[in-house]
Amino acid sequence: MIGGLHKQFLLLLLWGSLVVAVKDYLFKTCETAGFCHRNKYFAESVKNQGHNFIPKYSISQSSISIDEVLNSKVIHGNIIKFIPSGNHITLPFEISLLDGNNLRFKVDEKDRTSIDTTKLNINTHRYNETSDWAFVSAELPYLANDKFTIDLKNDVLIITYGDAKQYRAIVDFWPIKLTIYHKDKIQIIANDKNLFNFEHWRLQDENSHHLTEEETDYDMFEDHFKDSKEDSIPLGPESIGLDFTFKNFQHLYGIPEHADSMNLKDTTESSMPYRLFNVDIFEYETDSRLPMYGAIPFILASKPEISVGLFWINSADTFINVDKTTNQKDSSTHWISENGIVDFIITIDKTPADINRNYGLITGYTQLPPLFSLGYHQCRWNYNDEKDVLEVNSLMDEYQIPYDTIWLDIEYTDQKKYFTWHKEKFPNPERMLDELDHTGRNLVIIIDPHIKTGYYLSDELTKKKSCINDASNNSYHGHCWPGESVWIDTLNPTAQEIWDAQFTWNNYFLGGQSSNIFIWNDMNEPSVFNGPETSAPKDDIHFGGWEHRSVHNIYGMTYHEATYNSLAKRNEGHTTRERPFVLTRSYYAGSQRTAAMWTGDNMCKWEYLQISIPMVLTSNIVGMPFSGADVGGFFGDPSTELLTRWYQTGIWYPFFRAHAHIDSRRREPWLAGEPYTSIIRDAVRLRYSILSVIYTAFYESSQTGIPVMKPIFYESLSNIESYSIEDQFFVGNSGILVKPVTEEDAKEIKVYLPDNEVYYDYTDRSLSKINAYSSDKPGYLTKSVTLEDIPVFIKGGSIISLKDRYRRSSRLMFKDPYTLIIALNKDGEANGSLYVDDGESFDYEKHEEYAYIKFNYSNGKISADVNEVKDRFKDSISDVKIEKIIILNESTTGTVESIIIHNPKLSISQSWTGKIEFVVEHDEL
Ligand SMILES: *[C@@H]1O[C@H](CO)[C@@H](O)[C@H](O)[C@H]1NC(C)=O
Ligand SMILES: *[C@@H]1O[C@H](CO)[C@@H](O)[C@H](O)[C@H]1NC(C)=O
Ligand SMILES: *[C@@H]1O[C@H](CO)[C@@H](O)[C@H](O)[C@H]1NC(C)=O
Ligand SMILES: *[C@@H]1O[C@H](CO)[C@@H](O)[C@H](O)[C@H]1NC(C)=O
Ligand SMILES: *[C@@H]1O[C@H](CO)[C@@H](O)[C@H](O)[C@H]1NC(C)=O
Repeated sequence: MIGGLHKQFLLLLLWGSLVVAVKDYLFKTCETAGFCHRNKYFAESVKNQGHNFIPKYSISQSSISIDEVLNSKVIHGNIIKFIPSGNHITLPFEISLLDGNNLRFKVDEKDRTSIDTTKLNINTHRYNETSDWAFVSAELPYLANDKFTIDLKNDVLIITYGDAKQYRAIVDFWPIKLTIYHKDKIQIIANDKNLFNFEHWRLQDENSHHLTEEETDYDMFEDHFKDSKEDSIPLGPESIGLDFTFKNFQHLYGIPEHADSMNLKDTTESSMPYRLFNVDIFEYETDSRLPMYGAIPFILASKPEISVGLFWINSADTFINVDKTTNQKDSSTHWISENGIVDFIITIDKTPADINRNYGLITGYTQLPPLFSLGYHQCRWNYNDEKDVLEVNSLMDEYQIPYDTIWLDIEYTDQKKYFTWHKEKFPNPERMLDELDHTGRNLVIIIDPHIKTGYYLSDELTKKKSCINDASNNSYHGHCWPGESVWIDTLNPTAQEIWDAQFTWNNYFLGGQSSNIFIWNDMNEPSVFNGPETSAPKDDIHFGGWEHRSVHNIYGMTYHEATYNSLAKRNEGHTTRERPFVLTRSYYAGSQRTAAMWTGDNMCKWEYLQISIPMVLTSNIVGMPFSGADVGGFFGDPSTELLTRWYQTGIWYPFFRAHAHIDSRRREPWLAGEPYTSIIRDAVRLRYSILSVIYTAFYESSQTGIPVMKPIFYESLSNIESYSIEDQFFVGNSGILVKPVTEEDAKEIKVYLPDNEVYYDYTDRSLSKINAYSSDKPGYLTKSVTLEDIPVFIKGGSIISLKDRYRRSSRLMFKDPYTLIIALNKDGEANGSLYVDDGESFDYEKHEEYAYIKFNYSNGKISADVNEVKDRFKDSISDVKIEKIIILNESTTGTVESIIIHNPKLSISQSWTGKIEFVVEHDEL
């Protein structure tokens, strides 16, 4: 759903065809954002001073105390900042150790009590609650005392931690540095380049006494940027800056959201560092560091021996410069935030998967989604009325295309008043939902945070003071889809209560007692058509007196979490469809716990199909695996070829939804015509046949943080070439490797096989056509492709569980039998996992009602190791069998010997083991 539309339209009128200039005009750059401008100036000044530079910050040794916290220790002390007046500013810091080799460093500002608060409507503390929203629990997982040591010396502090105490953090007092070693090797240094900068509070007329020689006062008390001139900047300059050097790392990943490569780019020559500032960016461009809808300030740095994660816990406008040029070996990053405190966590461990696990200990792992939400979602702006919805629903069956969910965009409402239906178009939502329910299908409707003025909900929000306020502390009014609107302030607990009341079962809006209705949260950056940079003014005020400036990047998360909480309360105790499903456009670190995301308003062009893969991979790397891009492209009309290729790619997105703009022509799969419709049908059916694989990947991700759409290098860490492969991926830990075709008119593709394992080409799924590839070193395989082809490979050593029958929706597949594909590695072995539960309730969590099966094949013997399955669940799956086992084996001649075992009648609810008498057949699947 677009925003910024009106502004774009206006600009087009003003500037004619200068479309490229529009984004520069709409969005600040580092030069035009005062806080970034100043920190850049600071960096250049430090650099220019070279060895003559005198750091103005020092840790006071005498201030340090080591305090007991639970069964751990926390280090407290003061950083002293020397300013020209001869005075100094005290900046208290705290260092703590958390499970998962997570080391946390926080710096606040002490003395802001002298601020005259009589004229201010705001909280004058620096905002320090980002972690309250981002972290999974208020109880921090402090590392137990016996797992680390602290050694305080005269001018240095040494902390040793990790298995066998292999990690060491050294804090130097002047110049201040934090250096983390693995054994004897430096891995990361904070403040390596002395870019630590902490703008403390001062009065404008005394400012000259406060500026160090590295500083400029550019836009400290006013904002020259065209659309934000009205920003009152009540607390003056508050920015923070800090650099981190990753030693001997050339590959950094993360900090979404950008329509850009997975491997982060050097930005030293570019005027545009990576920016994290959630905005509704109209027709975003690819190959760009411009901000987008979501922000996760987390970087993963990987190399063969070790990986490092850096989590910058700040929700203000943030720029990140990446410098890979200094010595061709290190990568350094400069982080600049507009306000808030310095708060970061560094985790260090062997592999990227370990870093995902460690980061998840802090921010939580992805929710295990309801199974239906991993099926195919059919969306457009808009399905016009009940008749339209039900027609699409039945055409899906007529064309035998499985799907689980149909979506309604904003037009279903009465004048964009959320929680109302357009009465003529949708006279009887309950009837419509019932009809969908017959074939196990669901409806998702959109609910946005802008609430039209002049109806019950905005009245109630205003009356109960649960809206975002303007700088003079009255409800903020702006423009969005409904026209004049207020914005719910989901930082406010009263707002949650009001929200909960909208989602109760007895609210007719939700179709009576229908349990098959779920929610899409859009425009929650928040998008404000007439606001600066298409969002809310930074001096708006939230609950707690916090400026919007401080909480901007978490607002979207607080909103979709409120929706999730309301749905969870509504569904509690319901046996069917108890798990909520919420899709969000805006997100932050921690959003993975309650929502899926998609990459917003892309375009029907090949480059958007291509960029979707690194974008979704990046999201998976930073702990937000439930992600996808609009299949087909949102703006415009795709060619039938592009649409087909997009389906063939989209079936691999963890979140798989087709969507289109209101001005786009209809493009449901049957409209493409033959051969396209059949090819699309085959692709969607492939998604459904591997739904168990995807669900298992989500289960494992929900336990360990492992990506669902997983970068190649996760499985080939010793091969540095694989670190830059970002147009192909693995499906979780399944061993399925995919290289979608994303070029127009492609006749061949090159697939990178990252190691010397055997790969079985599963592109053509008839067994007689499966080839095996193996060589003694990694490399590219050239393969010719037709429009039908989705290049899929199964890595030797994997066991895959499929369900092959066509059903109309995932719900109807529950009792279907499995086919196991056992793809042997060079040693004739294989293993794999399968997770099964009811797919919709929380019984797997509350009552352990699930089966987690580990298959193993070795020495001609196959076994299944199953957890102790609780009786009730065992009953419900007792008749779910494995109906076929296919063993793929690379013969000495390089072809594939396949062995098929029909009807082994093996249960998935009990452990078993056995030598199997093979009947060798060369058969079609
Ligand atoms: C601003 O308004 C909120 C309610 O929206 C109120 O709780 C708060 O006390 C007000 N702040 C001041 C300084 O009056
Ligand atoms: C934030 O700072 C305030 C004031 O110093 C303090 O009372 C509060 O505990 C801090 N909150 C967090 C989450 O650190
Ligand atoms: C499969 O075997 C490998 C190597 O022994 C092991 O690392 C992996 O955890 C096993 N996977 C499963 C699902 O058992
Ligand atoms: C698989 O089975 C073989 C033979 O029984 C055994 O040696 C091996 O440890 C098993 N592997 C796993 C991952 O369970
Ligand atoms: C797999 O192929 C190898 C080499 O051709 C052969 O030695 C082995 O017995 C085969 N394994 C199975 C299970 O057929």
